This record gives sequence, structure tokens and C-alpha cells, in this order.
Amino acid sequence: MSETTVLEFPENFRWGVATSAYQIEGGIHNDWSRWEAAANKAQADKYKQKGEKIPGWEYLKHEIIEPDTYVNGKSVDHWNRWRNDFQLIKDLNMNAYRFSIEWARVEPRKGKWNEEALDQYVEMIAELQKLGISPMITLWHFTLPVWVEEMGGWENQETELLFARFVEKVVGRCKNTNLWVTLNEPEIYVREAYVTSNWPPNQRNLVKYFTVLSNLIDAHKLASKAIKDANPIALVGIAKNNTYFQPYKNFFANQLVAGFASWWWNRYFLNWTHKELDFIGINYYFHRVINVLWRTRDLDPHSDMGSELAPYGIYHVVMEATRYGLPIFITENGLADAKDDRRQWFIKQSLVNLHRAMEHGAEVLGYYHWSLLDNFEWDKGFWPKFGLHEVNRTTLERRRRPSADFYAGVAATNTLPL
Ligand code: BGC
Repeated sequence: MSETTVLEFPENFRWGVATSAYQIEGGIHNDWSRWEAAANKAQADKYKQKGEKIPGWEYLKHEIIEPDTYVNGKSVDHWNRWRNDFQLIKDLNMNAYRFSIEWARVEPRKGKWNEEALDQYVEMIAELQKLGISPMITLWHFTLPVWVEEMGGWENQETELLFARFVEKVVGRCKNTNLWVTLNEPEIYVREAYVTSNWPPNQRNLVKYFTVLSNLIDAHKLASKAIKDANPIALVGIAKNNTYFQPYKNFFANQLVAGFASWWWNRYFLNWTHKELDFIGINYYFHRVINVLWRTRDLDPHSDMGSELAPYGIYHVVMEATRYGLPIFITENGLADAKDDRRQWFIKQSLVNLHRAMEHGAEVLGYYHWSLLDNFEWDKGFWPKFGLHEVNRTTLERRRRPSADFYAGVAATNTLPL
């Protein structure tokens, strides 16, 4: 009997990388850029105080304590360097790329469209297709135009209609592409903006939390309709942050709490939106051991940001999502690893476990690694390094990390060496 030495993936499997506009493009004026301008010094102090609790502290200290780290500014200048960056994607042997279109760039003032920006996005899509890289486009990835923020952002129901209008405009202009994601991680956004208060508009308000969550559900439905109106053959998805809640030792009380947590965090939004979805996108990053009796120590390795790395959890979140009977994409999966000493292991183990879910019946159409480049990690600024390419903060030069060679090999052969 011969031993299996490789895992084969289906023909046409999408191997991709993922990014978002605000995190890489540069030169965008929106609610986030306004917030950073006011908050960057406080952010540097906050993380300076957390100091040694940050696993990558010694290595990243010089960046963590620097207020400029928390200002996106020209970012990694992707808006000007996109041709070069697309070549990097091609050189990784990818056949897919997930990115986002920035509302604030396309509609900088209410009803005033920036046609040049739209032209550039159309040109970018055409270039990707020329390179044999199929685009998946996100329409909202956490940021809002300043004029929308001033109307109350997602707290105001009118934002849903204005978002749908933006979506119709964009999808109508980008008819040559069919894979659309309406919202990125609505559950993370409402938590960070209205519970933990780490993100703008920095509130701790449960009424607003539920209001915004419900408005985002409606926004998804309206956007989904707008996409289909503009392009009837388009496929609509969402990028959900799903977590593996693992009941400690399968004790009954732990199972109960883990079950509730999965329902609320992983499925609540999908329960309301799955009829307006053609596919489910899963962003898998987190694993939580649920133990109601005492605190359980994490035994898995950690990322530079302190999240536990549990690649086996991807199996569970994918299997959980199969209940909707829709195809699944892993729309994000990745880690902050400045030294690049965990990334290859993490990619490999994630793919082994994804493959196992596929063997057990999950219809998974593709995997998009987060991220192509080191980029602006929201309230943590530039210090977490998620890139398959390292970006020099002074010259903005891109340099491929060794783990990227491994991923490129998987994509080239459509197989995973064991
Ligand atoms: C988000 C990205 C973010 C990544 C890494 C995801 O939650 O969609 O914007 O950079 O995780 O933290």
C-alpha cells in the first residue's frame, strides 16, 4: 500500500490572496483617516503600555512606540503600484484575488461620483483578467466616507439605501466580473465600534450595537438586490468572521456555552441573510476554548498579536457552515508573523484541515490568504506583519517572504505536500 504524500485539490480550485482598499491603497480620506489623525499618539501610548504582553514586542518595539505607525497616510501606495503588485500575485501562481472598492474614493461627496477612480478600478479588473487572476470584490470593508460618518454612519438607516446606490453604481460599471462580497465581518465591526470601543465611532452602547447589526443585515439584503439588478449573473457572498468555539473536554456545560457562542457569533447573521447569498465567505482566524469552570491556558503557538494559532479549527467552522447548503470560500486566513517562522506551518496545517472538510462533503471553492502585503492593521497600525511580502516602511519596496514560496508551490501544482 502506497502512502499518501500529497493532498490533491479539485481542478479549478481558486488559490488567492486577499487585501482591502483602505489597508493598502493610500491617500484615502474617510472616517478612519480622520480618526487616526486624532488618535495616533494615544494609540502609540496604549500599545507601549501593553509592552511585554505583545508577543512580538522585542522585535517590533521600535514601530509599536512610534505614533506614525498608527497613521495610514500613503499606506503601501498600492493605488499607484497596483500593476507591480498584480505581478507579485501572478508570480505567486495565484488564479484569484480578493480586494475591495473604497466607497469614500468613488463617492467622496454625496451623489458626486469620482469617475476617474471608477475607471481605474475597471482597468484593474481588466488587468487581473489578462493575467488569469479572477477577482472577488468586497463592497464594504469597515470604512465609510466622511459624509456618511457625519450622518451617523450605520446607525442611520438611510445609510443602507445610500450604500445600495453605491453598490449599484459600482457593479454597473464593473460588469466584467461576477464575484461580489457585500460586507466584510459585520460582527467584528459592531463589536469593535460599539462594545470594546477600539474603533471609530468608539462607543460602548448595546442599543447602538443591535441597531447597527440589524442595519447591516438590511444593508446586505439591499446590496444583494442592487448587485443582481446591475448584473443578473453575479454571485453574491459575504465575508464572515467565524470562530471555532471548542468545548473543553466536551463537558456538558462547556458544550452548551460553546453551542450558544457558535449560534450567536457564527450563524446569527447568516440565519438572517443566507437566502440572499450565493456563497458563504469565511474569514478564519480565531479559536476559543470554552471552559466555564476555570481558565484554560492556550497551548497552541501564537501570532505576533497574541492570537492563538489553531489551524485545525478551520475544519470545524467550514463543517458548521455546510448546513446552509451553499458553496464556501475561505475569504481570509492568515497571521501576523514578522519573522515568518510560523506562516508556512500555519498555511500547511490550515490546508490539511480544509482538505479534510472537503473530503467530508464541504463544497469549498477556494482559499484566499490574508494578505498579499504587509499592510495597515486598523487600530494597530503597521506593526502587525500579515504579508506574504514584507514591505519596507521607508522605501515601500516589497520583498517576498520564504513562506510565500511554499504557498506558490501549492498553487502551481494544486497539491499540498505532506
Ligand atoms: C479583517 C482584515 C484584517 C485581518 C487581520 C480580518 O478581520 O477583514 O481587515 O486586517 O482580519 O486582522
